[in-house]
Amino acid sequence: MGSQDIHLLLIEDNPGDAGLIREMLAEAKGMSFELEWTETLSEGIERLASGGLDVVLLDLALTDSTGLDTLRRLRAASPWAPVVVVLSGLSDEEISFQAVQEGAQDYLIKGQVDSSLLVRSIRYALERGHEQEALRGAQVELENRVRERTADLVKANEALRNSQHLLQGILNNSTAMISVKDLQGRYMLVNHGYERLFHANSESLVGKTVYDLLPREHADRVRASDQGVLDSGNVLEAEELIPQDDGLHTYIAIKSPLRDGEGKPYAVCGIATDITERKRLQADLTRASRVSSMGELSASLAHEINQPIAAAVTNANSCLRWLSRDEPDLVEAREAASRIVQDGRRAGEIIKRVRLLFKNDALQRELVDLNEIIREMMLLLHSEAAQFAAFIRTELAADLPQVMGDRVQLQQVLMNLMMNSIDAMKDMDGRRELTIQSQCGEDSQVLISVSDTGVGLPPEQADKIFDAFFTTKTHGTGMGLRISRSIIESHGGRLWAADNPPRGTRFCFTLPASGVTCDAVVSGDRTEAAHGPHANKPVV
Ligand SMILES: Nc1ncnc2c1ncn2[C@@H]1O[C@H](COP(=O)(O)OP(=O)(O)OP(=O)(O)O)[C@@H](O)[C@H]1O
Ligand SMILES: [Mg+2]
Repeated sequence: MGSQDIHLLLIEDNPGDAGLIREMLAEAKGMSFELEWTETLSEGIERLASGGLDVVLLDLALTDSTGLDTLRRLRAASPWAPVVVVLSGLSDEEISFQAVQEGAQDYLIKGQVDSSLLVRSIRYALERGHEQEALRGAQVELENRVRERTADLVKANEALRNSQHLLQGILNNSTAMISVKDLQGRYMLVNHGYERLFHANSESLVGKTVYDLLPREHADRVRASDQGVLDSGNVLEAEELIPQDDGLHTYIAIKSPLRDGEGKPYAVCGIATDITERKRLQADLTRASRVSSMGELSASLAHEINQPIAAAVTNANSCLRWLSRDEPDLVEAREAASRIVQDGRRAGEIIKRVRLLFKNDALQRELVDLNEIIREMMLLLHSEAAQFAAFIRTELAADLPQVMGDRVQLQQVLMNLMMNSIDAMKDMDGRRELTIQSQCGEDSQVLISVSDTGVGLPPEQADKIFDAFFTTKTHGTGMGLRISRSIIESHGGRLWAADNPPRGTRFCFTLPASGVTCDAVVSGDRTEAAHGPHANKPVV
């Protein structure tokens, strides 16, 4: 038996017919066959199960099965085996078409078959079988691919569903208001926060703009900051106001651009948090820390009013001195009197501020030129300094940016610091010099310093000078520095003290500049001591 042998299984109950087929196969030229023979269908099916067969020759009329049923049972057991149906006679030809329709490759009619017809039919069946096998292979591969693809799609769909679920969960469980708006400002997505606030469901909000939800003035601000995000392509933070049943609420909104595949912004995503309550608490806290107890408040009041009154008394004394001369100097007396008027006004201003403090109203913030305040204070304290032979000089940056602040409070700070310096120098031998400098500090801050050549900070107690009521003076209240520090801090700045080598103290404070940049141009004369390496090193 060669490798080219065609393996046939003949299922035929008639030994005569089987013998005939065997003979016909033996006559075939150029081809060799190996024939196995079973008499019943069930034996045939059993043999097919162990494989190695190329074609089955099947008699439809067997002892254990007849008619088309024979073919059906065989194909059910072995769907892909090429089968040539052998019919018992012409009368059976009717079912031949049906047999072919149901998967038989060909049919032969006993008595009308010769060797060449049989061989041709077998070869034809074989060929069809190979084609079918190839087709079946392709189909199986296709089915596998479809199956894999479907599994991938199912997985991808599930991942998408999960991530949508997750995103929805984050969006809706957030206490913030989250939205996505297109380039025209129409809502593409809103979370439950929006639904709650505007008493509407997200479907009805999508497609609307902020102008459909808020009064024009507020909507304009929201739209402007959205546009700012789109124009700059940057993440921005904006404070927005939203009217609600209990009044205006303040929101802090973080806005970022969403970009398409090419990096072009196509929407703005906003996450806004209601900070109304936080702001109120902060204001209360600031107020509470400024007025922490009634005792402190009265001390602070006494201190603040004491200074202009003391100045008025000083000026009144000098006025009297000018008038009680043998030849009264009316010009000097008038000047002293007008300084008294100024002092009175200052005291009035202070009382006004304290009243405001009680009423919990906002401070009067305006753009303030600190150089101007320094010059005013210099004029005001000139005679006080002269009395103790102290020399006041200034080094003021020419282009000092303005700061946003309360003019009277900032005057108060400078006055406190300058009065302290004069006090510190009163009993000192040697040169008594009070230097006030203004300059541009780091990080858009304005830096002011008040330096003296006085006694220096009280030894061992330097860390106490900013405490309320700490004083080393007989008539001091010990509130000056405490109040000054809280004023500077409420303006967003810092106040500290440092040594002023070789002698004295240097007080410095910073305040945020109001957005104008400046070159550190300084007018007046500079001294090495004031700019030396230790000049700004804080001690307290
Ligand atoms: N320039 C300075 N040089 C040395 N010590 C100072 C200087 N400024 C303040 N101090 C010290 O810090 C203390 C507290 O100052 P603060 O201005 O708070 O109160 P005070 O000056 O004592 O009293 P008041 O300001 O009510 O007149 C002073 O008593 C003093 O010991
Ligand atoms: Mg003081």
